[in-house]
Amino acid sequence: MSIFDNIAKEFIEQFQAFPVIVRSPGRINIIGEHTDYNDGFVLPAAIDKAAYVAISLRTDGVVHLVAKDLNETFLTSVGDLKPVSTVSWPNYMLGIAAQFIKRGNAIPGFNAVLSSEVPIGAGLSSSAAVECATVFALNELLNTKLDRLTMVKMAQKAEHEYAGVMCGIMDQFASMMGKKDHVIMLDCRSLDYEYRPFLLDGYKILLLNTNVKHSLVSSEYNTIKKQCAQAVEWIQQHQPDVIALRDTNQVMLDEFVLPKNNNNNVIYKRSRFVVQEIERLLAGCQDLEQGNFKALGQKMFDTHFGLSNMYGVSCKELDWLVDYVKDNEGVIGARMMGGGFGGCTINLVKDEAIEPLIEKIKPAYEAAHERPLIYYKVSIENGTERLR
Ligand code: GLA
Repeated sequence: MSIFDNIAKEFIEQFQAFPVIVRSPGRINIIGEHTDYNDGFVLPAAIDKAAYVAISLRTDGVVHLVAKDLNETFLTSVGDLKPVSTVSWPNYMLGIAAQFIKRGNAIPGFNAVLSSEVPIGAGLSSSAAVECATVFALNELLNTKLDRLTMVKMAQKAEHEYAGVMCGIMDQFASMMGKKDHVIMLDCRSLDYEYRPFLLDGYKILLLNTNVKHSLVSSEYNTIKKQCAQAVEWIQQHQPDVIALRDTNQVMLDEFVLPKNNNNNVIYKRSRFVVQEIERLLAGCQDLEQGNFKALGQKMFDTHFGLSNMYGVSCKELDWLVDYVKDNEGVIGARMMGGGFGGCTINLVKDEAIEPLIEKIKPAYEAAHERPLIYYKVSIENGTERLR
């Protein structure tokens, strides 16, 4: 049975009602990491792994949530919405409900069943997928007629306010706006975007999951974001027009951030990475336009080097995976992906090189790190959609 059939069956059995069912995917990002909250550009796409949410309204103010895969239930009421500290998954749905209420849209209570094939903590935005599916379903049920961009912003706010991660907009945007066989060139300042075809003739996107679970909340994500803001503040004292790291350059960083000389220049190094990464993405988009995947792939390796050595968000397992493939002629690009500290690497691999690579890298990784190496060959698919 498909996930759709399963979730529909479970919902009808448990709640004796016919739900709205929405599917919303996880995402990859080709290049442009940690640039979204610096007003830069990103190049993400939605993938063929999604979260599914089935929802119907109630009339008694109760919110009854079921995580089918975890066999867990969470009950609360619309009058008592607040972040939960004991388990994380209800927060993504409750955070969305709270956004509707903030907008003045009354919610009479609802039942929801969630099931997801987006691996958790793998850097594929499993939480954004749940947020986007939930906001889309509630928008249908409440007949609020919100546009997709409004829903993206509500999903991002849910992550900020209920999951405590002060994320940029990339993940929710990619999940909601994804388009089959296209990457999204998104300007995170203006939110202008363009779909660019991403048809890899003879290559596939292979994700290698370290199985090191990243935890963005407990990790450094929010601290790093503040450090970027600190760099901007230092520069602003001399260049008042600078609003974000996107507006800076190497000269400004050398002049106004380097002399602050804090904690081994960590803020300087991180800011430098962001400036370089934005340039790299823009150049990478030209490679893409010219169909030069080799050049784009090389930039992905460069991004990994920067994320590991300048931005400091990699880990030994991610570094190991990228290092392992870098001399493999069948792999044209590889890097860690997402927030960091664990999760997946994204690899562009020649069709015929995939099986031989997996055969070798899997046992080697497992012997070196005593963790399973899971892999996914992913395709680029459409964003959030209602299934019934
Ligand atoms: C996480 C965040 C995104 C983005 C990436 C890093 O996935 O949710 O907003 O900052 O990390 O590029």
